Amino acid sequence: MQISDKQINQFNEQGYLFFPSLFSAEEIKVLVAELDGIFSSHRPETVREKGSDAVRTAFGVHMYNAAFARLARHPRMVEPTKQIYDEDVYIHQFKVNAKAAFDGEVWQWHQDFGTWHADDQMPEPRAMNVAIFLDEVNEFNGPLMFIPGSHKLGVIEAGHDTVTTSYPLWTLDQETVSRLVAKGGLVSPKGPAGSMILFDSCLVHASGSNLSPWHRRTVYLSLCAVSNHIRRFKRPGYIAQREFDPIQCLADDCLLRDYPVSLPWEDGAPESALQPQLAA
Ligand code: SIN
Ligand code: MN
Repeated sequence: MQISDKQINQFNEQGYLFFPSLFSAEEIKVLVAELDGIFSSHRPETVREKGSDAVRTAFGVHMYNAAFARLARHPRMVEPTKQIYDEDVYIHQFKVNAKAAFDGEVWQWHQDFGTWHADDQMPEPRAMNVAIFLDEVNEFNGPLMFIPGSHKLGVIEAGHDTVTTSYPLWTLDQETVSRLVAKGGLVSPKGPAGSMILFDSCLVHASGSNLSPWHRRTVYLSLCAVSNHIRRFKRPGYIAQREFDPIQCLADDCLLRDYPVSLPWEDGAPESALQPQLAA
């Protein structure tokens, strides 16, 4: 899938592109059918919500689950990303955020590149976030919110929030967010399961809690230009991947046909991927 010059300009201006219903209901069903097994497996790569057993984030699913491993090689997200960076990309991070009905907690205001730069020593913001909706996202179940144009500011000063949720994050203060929203406003792309968002790793974003009776399960892939790979292995490999091989795409029908994929963590992630490792 290729995007137009108009879409590239829009991405450069706004910091994101939204593709409603890009994946069919049949394709999404293949992924959703795997989630109960993934969420109940109690692997160390899976983070739970604070004070509850509800899954917040399942990291590295593409390393042990065949359906998600095929999604990780899908041309519909990889091709436009390569087009924008004019280079091959590798997977820096792969996660399923569950945002469970009633239990899904907030994500505070942040930029992803701030963390990747500070913790992983990723040199430049040449990394794309891709969100693929596994459920309908509506105004009630904790949709992502963006401040359009905020990616143009580069890395904004942030503080390390280790308290609000079960997952530590470098977050922006309220005064900064108010100033940015006064200038850029707020948007919140919503739509059916199968919709996809591409967003710049410097775009400021957040999401509220999910008090609705509907799950808001979303896959996030962070695709980094190969030459821009991380230089430091401070965080575990299941959070910040340490292999930089370019993604080799499968065919466009790869969610519906059983293409062979390697599953190196099928019997568990190796100790080296679970532990921080300071020397790169
Ligand atoms: C994230 O920013 O990494 C996740 C936000 C969300 O799932 O709402
Ligand atoms: Mn984020």
